Amino acid sequence: MSLWSPDAWLEAWRFAADAHHGQRVPGSEHPYIVHVAAVAMEVAHAISVRAQLGDPVARPDLAIQCALLHDVVEDTSITASELAVQFGDDVAAGVSALSKDPSVGDKPAQMRDSLARIRLQGPEIWMVKLGDRITNLQAPPSHWEPAKIRSYRDEAQKIHAQLGGACSVLGPRLQAKISAYEQFT
Ligand code: NI
Repeated sequence: MSLWSPDAWLEAWRFAADAHHGQRVPGSEHPYIVHVAAVAMEVAHAISVRAQLGDPVARPDLAIQCALLHDVVEDTSITASELAVQFGDDVAAGVSALSKDPSVGDKPAQMRDSLARIRLQGPEIWMVKLGDRITNLQAPPSHWEPAKIRSYRDEAQKIHAQLGGACSVLGPRLQAKISAYEQFT
């Protein structure tokens, strides 16, 4: 039994690598695709563990493709319509929900708006947001002020509160990352 389609993974992976070409992970020398790979790994890990526990993710390919593509609309010139043509409407809708809408207002308002739109999607999309924040809760960049670090932690708690119930692996894993992040606050 295969848990996901390697071809679906590769198609989204190559698309994301092209879309993010030339971008770097903020505060690092890594190409941006390193972040994308980490989020996909979190989602794939959760899919694998849940399959072993008899709690399978209903649409693993949707979760993985949205993980691989989760930042292309927010951070590149790719549009949701282009995603719909190549990957279908469900991937396009998932990535759209995962993308902040710059017309909404300030950053906290954009996050609230995105979380509300993610909650209208299936649990596979919630999983991507959990994996994204798990990936981003590493040691903060050295130039971050304590207030910014605390607000990032608070935002992670909101994500956990709103989306953590979608996944028995990623919900607790995000909580553990939030607890570990306290050392930086
Ligand atoms: Ni991301």
